Amino acid sequence: MDLQDKLQALLKENQKKIEETKELDDLDKIRVNLLGKKGPITQVLRGMRDLDATERPKVGAFANSIRDELNAALDEQRETLRRERVARKLAKETVDVTMPGTPVRLGTPHILQQIIDDLSDFFLGMGYQIVDSYEVEQDHYNFEMLNIPADHPARDMQDTFYLNKELLMRTQTSAAQSRTLEKHDFSKGPLKMISPGRVYRRDTDDATHSHQFHQMEGLVIDKNITMADLKGTLLAMAQHVFGADREIRLRPSYFPFTEPSVEVDVSCFRCGGKGCSVCKYSGWIEVLGAGMVHPNVLTYAGVDADVYGGFAFGLGPDRFAMLKYGVDDIRSFYTDDVRFLEQFHKEG
Ligand code: DAH
Repeated sequence: MDLQDKLQALLKENQKKIEETKELDDLDKIRVNLLGKKGPITQVLRGMRDLDATERPKVGAFANSIRDELNAALDEQRETLRRERVARKLAKETVDVTMPGTPVRLGTPHILQQIIDDLSDFFLGMGYQIVDSYEVEQDHYNFEMLNIPADHPARDMQDTFYLNKELLMRTQTSAAQSRTLEKHDFSKGPLKMISPGRVYRRDTDDATHSHQFHQMEGLVIDKNITMADLKGTLLAMAQHVFGADREIRLRPSYFPFTEPSVEVDVSCFRCGGKGCSVCKYSGWIEVLGAGMVHPNVLTYAGVDADVYGGFAFGLGPDRFAMLKYGVDDIRSFYTDDVRFLEQFHKEG
């Protein structure tokens, strides 16, 4: 067999081998074996030394063309294998966008936040502004400005966490009253505000007492505000929260910053007023404190008490939630038991 036949046979045999190769690594090995220094093509070319000088260029050109063909076959197969590999990968990583997703468990606002949000919406609708005030408060605003001087017995009930002589954790959102009053420009219109937030009192924690709870303060000051305005406002609020059939009644009470002061009861939402265990068979449930703002509170804040007057109220979102949902332990709101909190899941 002469050299050219040998080369032809080499090409045939290896073309088939290359076509049948399935792995890129194997293809590399074939290339090294075939075209490397010790490969058959090189061997053949070495044999050219024994050839006639006239034969040499012919055989040389032929050998080169065989090598080119082998290279082309290797390239082609490499490309085919690459394409197959990509196709396999794509097939494996296909995403079915029509498949239902993994459900994500959505949280919900805390029930107390829901009550505060709902009341805020209600009062915003009546033209009130929402005031965010300080939880660390000055004695001055928490007590003095509210007509509770240092020796006033009303302080005893609200003995609290003092940070120093002047600073304390506020005991009541009423502290927001004087701060807002001081700043209000009555030439621009009446003052109507609510101020929700946390308050603190030194208290023995039990089912109905917590050393930390929430209040929402309300304050309306203008000319010619009467107790009828207070009653109408609180009736609308009570009906919004506890049901459209509710009634309210005012009982005389005492707060240093209001005169007269009242305790507000709402007719029982369970029995409608006939008497049941929720209202302790009285037909009424106490829900908040209120009154006509004491002239001293206005004067201290620099407001002319002969011209302006109004009402204030203070309600407890914790108490509202307990009543509305029959929660018998205020501590449930603060111990973060998800099983308890999830009962108040709010859609959307
Ligand atoms: N600050 C009072 C308290 O913590 C609640 C209160 C009562 C607020 C009557 C008022 C009000 O604004 O008019 O016990």
